[in-house]
Amino acid sequence: MMGKITLKNGEPLPKIGFGTFGSDHYSPARVAKAAACAIESGYRLFDCAQVYGNEDVIGEVFADAFRRGIVSREEIFVTGKVWNDMHGAGKPAEALEQTLSDLRLDYVDAYFVHWPFPNYHAPGCDGDSRNPDSVPFDPEAYIRVWNEMESLYDAKYTRSLGMSNMTIAKLESVLKRIRIQPAMIEMELHPSFQQRELFDYCADKGIKVIGFCPLGSPNRPERDVAPEDVSDMELDEVREIARLRNFHPAQVCLAWAVSRGAIPIPFSGNEKNIITNLRAAAEKLTDEEMAILDSAERNCRLVKGQVFLWPGAKSWKELWDE
Ligand SMILES: NC(=O)c1ccc[n+]([C@@H]2O[C@H](COP(=O)([O-])OP(=O)(O)OC[C@H]3O[C@@H](n4cnc5c(N)ncnc54)[C@H](OP(=O)(O)O)[C@@H]3O)[C@@H](O)[C@H]2O)c1
Repeated sequence: MMGKITLKNGEPLPKIGFGTFGSDHYSPARVAKAAACAIESGYRLFDCAQVYGNEDVIGEVFADAFRRGIVSREEIFVTGKVWNDMHGAGKPAEALEQTLSDLRLDYVDAYFVHWPFPNYHAPGCDGDSRNPDSVPFDPEAYIRVWNEMESLYDAKYTRSLGMSNMTIAKLESVLKRIRIQPAMIEMELHPSFQQRELFDYCADKGIKVIGFCPLGSPNRPERDVAPEDVSDMELDEVREIARLRNFHPAQVCLAWAVSRGAIPIPFSGNEKNIITNLRAAAEKLTDEEMAILDSAERNCRLVKGQVFLWPGAKSWKELWDE
């Protein structure tokens, strides 16, 4: 059931992964229980991050799965991400050392720069929270962080490198100036937010796209909920394909992502949903179905990132160069 694609550095990557962000609602223990269910169900890609605050318990799940012979280390693809407060000199190495110790691994398969700014907020903060030390994107600062990521790759602590929450303008300002290109870029992707230009830009460069919030993140943190947001699983276009195929709307969102060539990383704390979602990765939508879903685009960004704004910035759109 679990097909794989190949990254441009030759590393195999599963077509669907399992998210591990508890969205401020699911405790670390609940996320770990879900990850254990996911590994037993057949997921082989796990999207982890230090800021999710659960790498230690997820590490126990991996260790247990290795001990019980459910998978070997080589059979799973584990990502990590350096959080915004670890962009300083020597800090990415420190962060990855902690991640590897918590996950009980010798290496991660991909290490990402989580956000392109050193701006951070307290875990669980509300949407009006701002850090006065926040600054706009600075390509020089980003390249300094990336150079540290390259050293971690050279030292074999990670098998690939990734970027996250980037825009074409930001990529244009850094890609030509770095030695090791990102093998993957993680971005928000769901039928109501398709990011076609950025997606095609990555495809042209052979960079694989990991799609976060693939179901429209129905239980996202309060700070990421706005009155104008739409619900992907309730869109007419998604419901129409679900009816025709006898799918759950969640499976339509995931089959759409996989058919497009993205790697969706849904989270669920529910065993039935975990299994349902995995099955969707084996489905290929027809051109007609993809055309219907094209029209589901509503430019509905859910993770607006307003908590990362710097003093003087007027709107979250500035974070995205809009
Ligand atoms: N790089 C970044 O900056 C970034 C940002 C955000 C997220 N991410 C990553 O992306 C992952 C996924 O994003 P997300 O968790 O926000 O959103 P999501 O995967 O779109 O949505 C997850 C929610 O959908 C529900 N759900 C899952 N399967 C379902 C089904 N079959 N039917 C109905 N409801 C279903 C789950 O509820 P139940 O528990 O009830 O199933 C869960 O609360 C995260 O866990 C994280 O790893 C990365």
